[in-house]
Amino acid sequence: MLLSGVRIPKLDICEMRSMANAPPDDLAIADLRQQPAFFDAIADRVWRAWWRARGYPLGYINERLRENCNASPIPFTLVAHVGAKFAGTASVVLTDLQERPQYSPWVAAVWVDPEYRQRGVGAALVERAIHASFLLGIARAYLCASRERCGFYAKRGWIPIEEDIGERQLAVLIRDATS
Ligand SMILES: CC(C)(COP(=O)(O)OP(=O)(O)OC[C@H]1O[C@@H](n2cnc3c(N)ncnc32)[C@H](O)[C@@H]1OP(=O)(O)O)[C@@H](O)C(=O)NCCC(=O)NCCS
Repeated sequence: MLLSGVRIPKLDICEMRSMANAPPDDLAIADLRQQPAFFDAIADRVWRAWWRARGYPLGYINERLRENCNASPIPFTLVAHVGAKFAGTASVVLTDLQERPQYSPWVAAVWVDPEYRQRGVGAALVERAIHASFLLGIARAYLCASRERCGFYAKRGWIPIEEDIGERQLAVLIRDATS
């Protein structure tokens, strides 16, 4: 293809698809403590996705999220954003799956807004969460997921260690700093 005298190489279908799905150029991932303006958006998404149907008020999530903004290195929350626009979030928390209190810490509450999905934002958030944990000296991190979501994490280096836990039949996956 020739455009204004510049030759553009022909792309095959796979290359075109991956360009269309690439993460937005100006996507940034930050700790919520550095970008507190996204607090309400994160509380809203987490509440709607996992807590509202179980009868918890939004105020309960606000409290939990505030804990992720205190001075302790863990828990922490990440926000993916494009300028002032919220794109997604993930957290690292000390406890998550009630049935497995012996495991800690957990990558949890991974959420990407629908308009940003299928562009690598979820994978980037999980990678950032895990590497930030390893930098803090964590040797092993855990994650629980439904059976349908397990493949998403398994493709990204997470190893399933248990399945069918509790009423929601969740699986537990791990990532080790040494792997
Ligand atoms: C699960 C969730 C976080 C994934 O977010 P996402 O930003 O769409 O994730 P990614 O774009 O990194 O990956 C999604 C898929 O797109 C594909 N993809 C990613 N980047 C791509 C690219 N550049 N080109 C083509 N495909 C791409 C990935 O291979 C992946 O495919 P898979 O599902 O078969 O593994 C998102 O769907 C979500 O928020 N769901 C609701 C909440 C939820 O279920 N959270 C998980 C709790 S365990």
